[in-house]
Amino acid sequence: MQEKFYLTTAIDYVNGAPHIGHAYEKILADVIIRHKRQLTDNAYMLTGTDEHGIKIQKTAAQKGMTPQELCDENFAKFEQAWKELEISYDQIIRTTDEKHKKVVKQIFKKLYENGDIYKNSYTGLYCAGCETFLNPKDLTQDGLCPVHMKKPEEVKEENYFFRLSKYKEKIADYIKSHPDFIQPSVRVNEILNQLESIEDISVSRTKASVQWGIGVEGDDTQTIYVWIDALSNYITAIGYDIDNPSEQFKNLWPCNVHVIGKDIIKFHSIYWSAILMSLGLDLANSIFAHGWITIDQSKMSKSLGNVIAPHDVLQAFKLEKPDAFRYYMASAALSGKDGNYSDEDFKEKVNADLANNIGNLLNRTLNMLVKYFDGEIKSEFISDKNSKIAVLAENAKKQVIEHFNHFEIAEASNVIVAFADAVNKYVTDNAPWTLAKEGKMIECGQVLYNTLEAMRYIAILIHPYCPNISADILLQLNEDVNFKYDKLTWGNIKEGKITEKDKIKPVFLRLDSEFATDKKKV
Ligand code: MSP
Repeated sequence: MQEKFYLTTAIDYVNGAPHIGHAYEKILADVIIRHKRQLTDNAYMLTGTDEHGIKIQKTAAQKGMTPQELCDENFAKFEQAWKELEISYDQIIRTTDEKHKKVVKQIFKKLYENGDIYKNSYTGLYCAGCETFLNPKDLTQDGLCPVHMKKPEEVKEENYFFRLSKYKEKIADYIKSHPDFIQPSVRVNEILNQLESIEDISVSRTKASVQWGIGVEGDDTQTIYVWIDALSNYITAIGYDIDNPSEQFKNLWPCNVHVIGKDIIKFHSIYWSAILMSLGLDLANSIFAHGWITIDQSKMSKSLGNVIAPHDVLQAFKLEKPDAFRYYMASAALSGKDGNYSDEDFKEKVNADLANNIGNLLNRTLNMLVKYFDGEIKSEFISDKNSKIAVLAENAKKQVIEHFNHFEIAEASNVIVAFADAVNKYVTDNAPWTLAKEGKMIECGQVLYNTLEAMRYIAILIHPYCPNISADILLQLNEDVNFKYDKLTWGNIKEGKITEKDKIKPVFLRLDSEFATDKKKV
């Protein structure tokens, strides 16, 4: 049995349409899962939408819709966006799915029976934007929520509470003894600090204040707090059930990585860990917290009118395939750091890396192969794994795998581009056109072979980012479209004719269109 890899993303709120911040996360996650699928057949990606809570309830009311209608309308937009970006999830869960709702009720009941949930009366400051109670010390000087810049509502209610404080030490021990649990590791101290002051949390709201949610079994006055509902998706989706967990659950759990944004790391590393501990389930192997995407260096916000939908970028640049956008987003920030989207930067980066560096190299080399050898590789051209370029290629492969093991997606793409740079330099330094002029045909053919074999490596390495460009390169090389790493050994291109003049096509065209100014539609 091949090693399994189970990846989840955060589930998005459906009170609006997807923007490129949501897309950033789904692209990172998709790049990781596609890479893992190159190594194992047992890789599974879950994404989804978070559909309950006061925000949906309020937005639906403002729009004169039922909450379910609003969820359905926006869910369709998320689904469409992920299709356009070729996010290859295996499953998309909605927290309004009946199966999910049933198991969340069971989970709540189980936590109650374990003595970890109790009823208490509470007065707190609730931010509807965060769907959480805020600690007065975390507010701005003017008493506003620091994320939404809105005054939280003072709420006095009788609620159920979860004994989070009971798990404080156990979670701290787990974090300390599992260095891969929170990634990047620079976030570990922040979480350990938060743990020190953690208190029990309210895990239900009265029906009077929040109707749109999963009810507590046996108590019709209460609605289950959205975060218990939302976090549970990671297990309900794959068939967790208190009495009878599915085979799929047994195969996939514990999850290998929860890919989430840095803003919700506390919910995943502390709340979710405590819930899993109470249920007697293993904790995830890793939580990877990515940074945030800004637009032209500003935070994306409806009030600034700078929210961009991924579809609008593809449309404005007349891109039929999402490869360039995927590549740019996945390379936009080093692991865990914030990144920025700008039209100029996008154009420059993809023109430099995909059109010039990779695309031109392939094009020039295939054209030389046609010009000097009628598109044919001869056996004397084939080099072995000790040739200089073969060693560089193997090194690039190792580094890419290593970066992926630490969720360093941009870092891995930098390795691929640096390898392409090195191959370009190799071609310039060895000038196959001069070798041909001097009649040194075997040497010339060897340089072309090394370059084409390197291109094959690049095609496979870049597959998770650019699935279509990757397939096109392999087709141009007359190779099977197979992205598995077991194909990634030197010397796969064999002797024989691989191309002819009119088969050679650019795999990526430069982006030269002027970006439309009316793209901000979300
Ligand atoms: N519903 C919760 C998550 C529950 S997970 C059990 C939520 N939803 S969200 O729609 O607000 O955000 C979904 C994901 O998108 C989060 O991981 C969040 O960090 C990410 N992003 C939202 N805006 C973003 C950017 N501008 N940039 C990068 N990621 C961003 O939180």
